[in-house]
Amino acid sequence: MSGKDDKFETRAISAGRMSDAHFGAVNTPVYRASTILYPSLEALEANDQPYTYGRRGTPTTRSFEEAISSLEGAAKTVSVTSGIQAIGLAVLSVCSAGDHLLMVDSCYEPTRNLCDRVLKRLGITTSYYPPTDDIAAHLRPNTKAVFCESPGSLTFEVQDIAAIVKAAHGHDNGRGGASVLMDNTWATPLYFQPLRHGVDLSIQAATKYIGGHADVMLGYVSANESHAARLHQLHGDLGLYASGDDCFLGLRGLRTLSVRLARHQQTGLTLARWLQSRPEVARILHPALESDPGHALWQQYFSGACGLFGLVLKPVPQPAIAAFVDGLRHFGIGYSWGGFESLIVPAHIRRTAQPFAAEGPVLRIHAGLEDAGDLIADLEQGLQRLKNKS
Ligand SMILES: Cc1ncc(COP(=O)(O)O)c(C=O)c1O
Repeated sequence: MSGKDDKFETRAISAGRMSDAHFGAVNTPVYRASTILYPSLEALEANDQPYTYGRRGTPTTRSFEEAISSLEGAAKTVSVTSGIQAIGLAVLSVCSAGDHLLMVDSCYEPTRNLCDRVLKRLGITTSYYPPTDDIAAHLRPNTKAVFCESPGSLTFEVQDIAAIVKAAHGHDNGRGGASVLMDNTWATPLYFQPLRHGVDLSIQAATKYIGGHADVMLGYVSANESHAARLHQLHGDLGLYASGDDCFLGLRGLRTLSVRLARHQQTGLTLARWLQSRPEVARILHPALESDPGHALWQQYFSGACGLFGLVLKPVPQPAIAAFVDGLRHFGIGYSWGGFESLIVPAHIRRTAQPFAAEGPVLRIHAGLEDAGDLIADLEQGLQRLKNKS
């Protein structure tokens, strides 16, 4: 078993293990349960056994949540059925009717829909701030939470998390300051641990790199000490839950996260650098590139990069983009990312606070675990098709 001084890679191997309780099985097996039996009426009335009802946790969900808590440095983690559910839960555990939520303008689009539709209906007002702005000017007397997504998963701006935490926590809203919530899916807790930088709720679409195999929908929220009780209570009150099967897949993915992510990082950077040298490309959006405007902040906060980055093409007609993308052999056309496979999609960028300035069409690439040379050869042929149609 590893201890708190061991590196992430070491702790990810044994965190949340319960082998003694499972006949020595290394990873906690799948428990499927609704009813949990009590040995007596007295035990039922006392209600102090570790498991009481399937929805409130089984050994599989607990293994996953405890593993994540130890890696995130959290007081409590709750698992849910998707990343977007985790985002909704985190916001609602902090904000109530009459409150203002300050949301980063580069957020994942369904996060924006949640704010503009559901939160609005519940009396929670959202306004959007440019990701690299000083947030002080955007805080309102009733601001209860500030939401970050760094880097943004379509446009890849890096945020100054410590500055945001300082301004939010020091905000005079008469209620002890505003909470800071962060969607940390791009970096995963391997490359950035939000709670260690003062963030109150760390959110992860475990559907992506933690699952890692494009075959599970899973999310979680990890809380610091001051936000844990409220989060846990709302998770129960709303009847939220992640299945034993999905938590098992999350736990299994976690064990190999560090090797997969190192390879995604390496291939992503290789592709990004190659694309940067191409005449068809206006700009690459990847904060680990020295030329990126967010590079200094990325270096300050992150210990690595995943395989997701953006590609701004020089202006070309739509049929040229279709010829490029449709003919690719190794890049699937599909949403999500974080699985073993390479993907490419157009980036549909929506902004409220400030338009995103791009020289031409923006695409998003996920570098998978294929051979980098094969991926480059595929992109090279694709760019030739694009040129032929331009
Ligand atoms: C940055 C980010 N956050 C959250 C999510 C939502 O995750 P899920 O699809 O598990 O709801 C996604 C999904 O693409 C995402 O890209």
